[in-house]
Amino acid sequence: MPNNRKFWNKAAEKYSKSPIADQESYEIKLDITRDYFTPESEVLEVGCGTGSTAILHAPYVKHIHGVDISDAMIEIARQKLKPGVHDNISFEVADLVTYPRTGKMYDVILALSIVHLIEDRAALLKMIYDRLKPGGTFVSSTVCLKLYSPLIRILLPIGRAFGQVPTVVSIDPAGLQKDMTDAGFKIVHQWQPGPKKAVFLICQKPG
Ligand SMILES: C[S@@+](CC[C@H](N)C(=O)[O-])C[C@H]1O[C@@H](n2cnc3c(N)ncnc32)[C@H](O)[C@@H]1O
Repeated sequence: MPNNRKFWNKAAEKYSKSPIADQESYEIKLDITRDYFTPESEVLEVGCGTGSTAILHAPYVKHIHGVDISDAMIEIARQKLKPGVHDNISFEVADLVTYPRTGKMYDVILALSIVHLIEDRAALLKMIYDRLKPGGTFVSSTVCLKLYSPLIRILLPIGRAFGQVPTVVSIDPAGLQKDMTDAGFKIVHQWQPGPKKAVFLICQKPG
């Protein structure tokens, strides 16, 4: 989706300098996620942005590979990598909509603030399922727009028509959970730090 790439490329510099909206919840999510890592874990992060989370997780895993549609985001992510320190991190520019369904298999896949940005959610979840090893873990944190004022949902398509906002899909927490189970995952942990906060889910692919 070229318009989305354009939007995220334009946003990249500002995004990289913006503080995390809820640092406390972010750190709790990092900690919970690490319970599912081992030093042998091969990790894929889809929609990795400027790579900050991948860099924080890297010391706990064997390798982490971040994928993002925006070359500007990936350029910033690559600039953060220090030889000899971050040798187990790689980044790739790719669109998740067309991301290969076969190839290297992962122990853990992370999708943080990205599931609600993909129109064909079932296809995204299928790709993630297919690229996970049996028994693998899928960690997601997803904005559920249906929890917000209906006005936002009216304004978003208008903003999108003017290139001011990217694709954002309206999801509610129950629908998201159903999509995960329909895709074949078992939800093993769920947490929402507050009424309008992103829904954090840990899902497992059957072994
Ligand atoms: C809200 S940011 C989240 C970035 C990062 N995961 C984080 O938590 O800070 C969404 C990211 O998803 C990427 N993105 C949006 N649509 C995408 C697509 N179709 N394929 C790959 N990446 C995409 C954007 O470029 C952007 O970096």
